[in-house]
Amino acid sequence: MTAEPFLKYVSLVRERVERFDVYPFSIPAIGTLDSLPLHPAVTFFAGENGTGKSTLLEAMAVVEGFNLEGGSRNHDFSTRSGTSELSGALRLGRGIKRLGKTDGFFLRAETMFNLATEVDRLSLFYGDKSLHDQSHGESFLSLLTNRFQPNGLYFLDEPEAAFSPQKQLSLIVLLHELVQNGCQFVIATHSPIIMAYPDAMIYWFSDQGIRPIEYRETEHYKVTRNFLERTDHMLAALLS
Ligand SMILES: Nc1ncnc2c1ncn2[C@@H]1O[C@H](COP(=O)(O)OP(=O)(O)OP(=O)(O)O)[C@@H](O)[C@H]1O
Ligand SMILES: [Mg+2]
Repeated sequence: MTAEPFLKYVSLVRERVERFDVYPFSIPAIGTLDSLPLHPAVTFFAGENGTGKSTLLEAMAVVEGFNLEGGSRNHDFSTRSGTSELSGALRLGRGIKRLGKTDGFFLRAETMFNLATEVDRLSLFYGDKSLHDQSHGESFLSLLTNRFQPNGLYFLDEPEAAFSPQKQLSLIVLLHELVQNGCQFVIATHSPIIMAYPDAMIYWFSDQGIRPIEYRETEHYKVTRNFLERTDHMLAALLS
């Protein structure tokens, strides 16, 4: 079952861009962006390092009113430079479903520490103790299980960074439950486990721009599979 989406597409309003030769519009994926349809359940951003996945994800979260440091619309702490120009030039195609003030979250592993501090400051508890007193993976999972609610919009940047392979499988299960309860996700990931979630579409970011791709065509799937099936052979080739 796929619910009515919050967001139907993201597009770049080219008239609002002054210069395409400066960051962030100089990134091919951003500069060539036209209109990108979003999956009603899960949209994955995948691709090489530095191709613009986080830049686009963050700018979309900003347009939706989320804070760049991660967190919900209630968590209003400092933002990093660079993506505000992009958010000003993006248009998000909204469905008929509307977000309430707390029905969503922007989360990236890198800023989990800041988020934990903010959650403590607001005397919120996710799980039975402060997020600072939980391990990286535990605190991430506490947030996901305690804070993520039905009918929410969630932007996640590399959620796998905190998780063991087994917990990444748990994350797929959690994702599925939330999708069945009307949630929509946009997730930047390098994890060949997480991006296997089937009720989804994958966009591949590269120097040529952004294109849809099948799971088994991604480099992440092919390289991981090849490496696990032929570990000794590949190690010998790499290290010779
Ligand atoms: N403030 C900035 N000024 C100039 N260039 C920047 C700035 N911030 C990021 N970049 C560049 O923009 C490009 C896209 O960065 P981004 O973080 O979006 O990549 P990514 O696809 O998320 O990569 P990764 O998979 O490593 O997380 C990179 O080449 C990066 O070096
Ligand atoms: Mg990134």
